[in-house]
Amino acid sequence: MFAKRTNWNLTANRLSEALAAHRAAGKPQLDLTVSNPTECGFEYDGAAILDALRNPAALSYEPNPRGLESARGAVAGYYADRGTSASIEDIFLTTSTSEAYSYVFRTLCDPGDELLIPSPSYPLFGFLAEIHDVSLVRYPLLYDHGWQIDFHTLEQAVTPRTRGVIVVHPNNPTGHFAKSGEMAQLSSICSERGMAIIADEVFLDFALEGERPASFVSNREALTFTLSGLSKISGLPQMKAAWLIASGPKQWKSGALSRLEVIADTYLSVNAPVQLAMPRFIEQRHGFQKQVIERVRRNLVELDGQLGAQRACFRLKVEGGWCAVLRVPATRSDEEMAIELLNAQGVCVHPGHFYDFPSEGTLIVSLLSPEQQFAEGTRRLLSAW
Ligand SMILES: Cc1ncc(COP(=O)(O)O)c(C=O)c1O
Repeated sequence: MFAKRTNWNLTANRLSEALAAHRAAGKPQLDLTVSNPTECGFEYDGAAILDALRNPAALSYEPNPRGLESARGAVAGYYADRGTSASIEDIFLTTSTSEAYSYVFRTLCDPGDELLIPSPSYPLFGFLAEIHDVSLVRYPLLYDHGWQIDFHTLEQAVTPRTRGVIVVHPNNPTGHFAKSGEMAQLSSICSERGMAIIADEVFLDFALEGERPASFVSNREALTFTLSGLSKISGLPQMKAAWLIASGPKQWKSGALSRLEVIADTYLSVNAPVQLAMPRFIEQRHGFQKQVIERVRRNLVELDGQLGAQRACFRLKVEGGWCAVLRVPATRSDEEMAIELLNAQGVCVHPGHFYDFPSEGTLIVSLLSPEQQFAEGTRRLLSAW
């Protein structure tokens, strides 16, 4: 009856089962995996957000495959504020970054074509690829006083079926940005081989140190799709508003735009009230990002203070984003460790394999957790060694 691609093994993993049992027993839990910004105690300008949804223009329907011009103008304004330019003709609005990936996969890949993805990285890609009949091939990120792309292995992973390289900038959960040299190298590899760059920049604004990192949106050397959206930038995942922007050599870009136009016109997926509200939602990012960056910094200081008082565990360098990667003694599998931390300490963390870390001894904690919860959760976590 069903497509083979949907034969997913949906049985809960052991950690999810342990979590469900923990909750069912009504036991308290210190959650160091929180990623939903609307549940982390940040202050939002609720009146402005709701008011933005009351635009009378939402009573009429103006279908446009790229999305309303006013909303795309606000997206272009966001890049202008960062010192880069994006033309509104190159922008397509989508309901989520995931949907933007979907449009790009459909534009680039025939069934069985390949995309290169970073490893470790965010676990969304597996399902997205399967739904679109795309094969994923991993390229490793190496850690040596900071993360970097292993270009040698990346180039070896390219086959005649490789259509593009996904780069998450900064990556989740490693929190590292692609450096300008890496961006240039990636562009020349992709342009030489007729491959596209798919740059996921949902965490671009959450840099913790140094200069503001450059966006891929101004990349002209290789065909590039830059993806972002309000779920992270303004902390508004419930509004379902995101975008993709095409850039690159003229002939490739115009081919991409005309194809994207057909895909987007088939769905016309973003609703009018949200599109009309986008300029104000994008404005909301200033207050939200300030709070997030302050919290992430405070939690990192707390984490470093606690790590400094012991010798068993340490953390990897974080340049941005919302997570920290902890190296802990690999006395058992990461999953067993996470289950034991939950059962014995009431602390919930993500095991490294969730993000495709190749070796045991890695736990991921969210730096978005409210400070007290983070401090107590970290204390309990570290008391396990
Ligand atoms: C790297 C990365 N890309 C995309 C997404 C999904 O974003 P959206 O809510 O816009 O689909 C996430 C969500 O956590 C993410 O971590």
